[in-house]
Formats: sequence, structure tokens, C-alpha cells
Amino acid sequence: MSDIAENAAEVARSRGATGVDIAFVLGTGLGNMAEAVENPIAIPYADLPGFPTLTVSGHDGHLVLGAQEGVGVAYMQGRAHYYEKGDPRCMETPLETLALLGAQIVVFTAAVGSVNADLYPGNLVMITDHINFCGLNPLIGAGGDGGFVAMAEAYDPRLARRFKRATLSSGVTLREGVYMWFSGPSFETPAEIKMAKALGADVVGMSVAPEVILARRLGLRVAAVVIVSNFGANFMGGNPSHLETRKTAAQGAIMLRRLIKSFLKIREIEQQ
Ligand code: HPA
Repeated sequence: MSDIAENAAEVARSRGATGVDIAFVLGTGLGNMAEAVENPIAIPYADLPGFPTLTVSGHDGHLVLGAQEGVGVAYMQGRAHYYEKGDPRCMETPLETLALLGAQIVVFTAAVGSVNADLYPGNLVMITDHINFCGLNPLIGAGGDGGFVAMAEAYDPRLARRFKRATLSSGVTLREGVYMWFSGPSFETPAEIKMAKALGADVVGMSVAPEVILARRLGLRVAAVVIVSNFGANFMGGNPSHLETRKTAAQGAIMLRRLIKSFLKIREIEQQ
């Protein structure tokens, strides 16, 4: 772990952070999901060394810590994106900090575009795998053998089962799909959307994949649940915009909150 992450964790502890079990990274329009935290401690990213300065609207910029359904949780309200500064490692320090605070599981959320006719705006999708279309890797330059991270079960099958069980108790429908990472910040062209579909993607987005790689390197168990905010450019009439992304994601957040509440109630022991 880097000194900067140790410093950020120390700041969080000095504000009262204790025992994080599960961390959530909240995407565009999803920041208010952290309202579910009991006795929250909200720390502005500006007070946490190595945390992002948020430049994009729809991201709130606090680390919210506390308990939910008897589980120690941390919510990152907003993330750093590769397209902001061209750094694929931009989420490294926040993820290290979460690990230092005790997190063993991280759940990534995001708004995505759909390239699958069965995945509609408003649908929740559990990511089962990804295609790193950017060809960038946050572990380039990591040195030594530490960069050879296995990705065969990067999206943890046990967590996936736990989410599926949570659909039964919450009544929330959760679809499944493969995520393709585009750099952004421009949206894809219609030709790129056709390519994404042809290559086996179900959804496209501008985050998640590099974060999953970093999290796996840290030994964190990973799940990703995303909200379809739009169809990809010219697919099923799609014409994505940031405003649409924010609006649809915010609507989907209500269902995602219900799903996560049920997810937290299910104890892992039941999953064996
Ligand atoms: N493309 C890429 N990222 C996105 C989209 C999209 O259509 N919608 C939300 N995030």
C-alpha cells in the first residue's frame, strides 16, 4: 500500500471510521444511495489524500462511512475516470484506502449504454465479465510479478450468487451482461456500438474495468451492478447524452438501493 493511501486511511480513522466490510463506488447520478447509511460519517474527498477532485456533474465527492443492515459499509460518492487526466491508475489510492480500512468486497456501480436489445434503459445489470477495449492497463509499470493478476473470476461468482438471491428477497430484477470499456469522454459512434455488440459486449461504459483490475490486484472481491441509462448511439434509437445518463441513473438508484439492502442482509455463509 502506498504512503498516500495510509495517510487517507488515517484521516478516515481520525474522523471515526471503523470496520469497513463492503465498499461501494457510486457512479453518475447514484450518489444519494449513501443516504441508506446509519450514523454516517461523510468525509469530503478534498480531505482525503489521493482521492479525486470531481470535475463531472452528477458526482458528489464524499466518502460516506457507517453501518447498514449490520454491515460496515463505505460509499464513494463519485469516482475518478481515465478520461479526466489520462491516468488509468486514477482509482488506485481510493481503492487502497478502502482496503486499508478493512474492506474485503467492493461493489462498483455505474451508468452504462446498452448494445443488447433485451437490456433497456432503467434495467439493472450485473456484470459477469469485461472487455478492456481501451487496451490500457492500470498495472502497466507496477513492476515485479505483481501485475500478473488472474482475471478468470474477476467478477466474484459467490458475490454474483448473493446478488441473485437478493433479487428474490427484494423483488428487483437483475439482468446479466458483459461490459466493454471505452475511454470516453465522447460517447461511442454508431460504428463503435455495432462493433461492441459484434465482439460480445452487452453494455458499454467509461469506468469499471480498470477499477476491477486494480481491486483484484489488492485481493478485493469484486461485483459490479450497473444501470442502463440509454441505448448505444443509433442502436434502438439511442443517442446518449450526459443529462439522460444522470436522469435515468437517478431513477434506477431506487431499485439499486432496494437490491443492496437485501444483498447486505444475506450472509456469505449461506452461499457456500
Ligand atoms: N456509452 C458510454 N458510457 C456511458 C453510456 C454510453 O452510451 N451511457 C452511460 N455511460
